[in-house]
Amino acid sequence: MTIGIHDISAATGSLVFALADLAEHEGIDVGKYHRGIGQTEMSLTTEDEDIVTMAARAAKPILERHGVEGIRTVVFATESGIDQSKAASVFLHGVLGLPRSARVVEVKEACYSATAAIQFGLGIVERRPSERVLVIASDVARYELNSSGEATQGSGAVAMLIAKDPAVLEIEPVSGLWTDDVWDFWRPNDRSTALVDGKYSVQVYLESLEGAWQDYRANGGAEFSSFARVCYHQPFTRMAVKAQQRLARIADPDGESGDIDRLADTVEYNARIGNTYTASIYLALLSLLDNGPDLAGERIGFFSYGSGAVGEFFAGVLVPGYKAQMRTDELQGLLEQRRPIAYDEYRHRHIAYDRVGDFETADETQGDVRFAGIAEHRRLYESR
Ligand code: COA
Repeated sequence: MTIGIHDISAATGSLVFALADLAEHEGIDVGKYHRGIGQTEMSLTTEDEDIVTMAARAAKPILERHGVEGIRTVVFATESGIDQSKAASVFLHGVLGLPRSARVVEVKEACYSATAAIQFGLGIVERRPSERVLVIASDVARYELNSSGEATQGSGAVAMLIAKDPAVLEIEPVSGLWTDDVWDFWRPNDRSTALVDGKYSVQVYLESLEGAWQDYRANGGAEFSSFARVCYHQPFTRMAVKAQQRLARIADPDGESGDIDRLADTVEYNARIGNTYTASIYLALLSLLDNGPDLAGERIGFFSYGSGAVGEFFAGVLVPGYKAQMRTDELQGLLEQRRPIAYDEYRHRHIAYDRVGDFETADETQGDVRFAGIAEHRRLYESR
């Protein structure tokens, strides 16, 4: 029996802000953003969008295609949680009308946790192959205005159905793991923006990649030269280039497997959406599936990283016919439909983001599910 990703779908916030606009107001060369960090735009949420509404928008096409039968577990990975106690997936369970017979939880470890969620899903399906697990990665990546991370903000969600005999990607059993207790990026409970030691976080990311790769190989993982492509966590897409170069240096110094041209198809969505934290690496996968050549039967590597810090390297093989499962036009349509906002509106929305007490939100989202506001400390969602 093979187990893996049976279906995958994504959504982003309905607003878009161009990094050319940010560079112009900062009085710097836009080349720093376009080439230096590899980002052109960032998706931002409207007042009535959050991690739950984006998750619902990402998951809906999967449920429409496959139904809800057999989905007894929903694991929601996020580092921009909306409640300290209640899992975001319970809100999602409600708005999607999922079966009552379900275990529904949220998991956290910075940008890494969707990978843990997938591993949990693989374990559940291994024990009971009739079950399917809905994994959601959804985040709003926010940094302070005028901080080094500001240009790497973004928002988005990826939903994946983990099942036996998957139609998209068979996930192989070997993983390479790495954890170290460090302060490269974190978000204390009283803040809605992350604190980050940017340069240090790049360094820890690369150390984690090396450590996870060595553990992957020590546990019988495949050779680097056997990977057709590697999808890396992309806090900004240029990070994937740094990662590929580092891995090639230690894993295949004389070969061509580390050719950075092989990354091109994996960065298209992230360059336009920005950092989506937990969703970022799976947006890289979706970008490859949608925009790359047909790689059926080929092995794809994955390096998942979450600051703090945890890294995992694993691999999967693309299933023949996977291209026919893709909804390429739909995600590209969502990207085109985003409403562009200018610098002043971007700044205003950033400052107005942290609202407390009871309030109602303006009706702005292009999605079917909206965050309607807060009443008596309760978050309210509406479907239409
Ligand atoms: N044209 C082309 N490239 C340019 C440029 C220009 N006009 N101006 C600068 N650059 C390049 C720099 O040379 C640098 O390249 P390098 O990384 O290969 O050295 C890159 O653009 C970034 O410039 P830098 O001055 O290092 O940017 P910064 O100090 O503003 O910070 C980060 C970059 C990544 C540290 C910052 O965006 C950040 O803190 N991000 C959030 C944390 C994060 O994403 N961490 C990643 C691990 S999780």
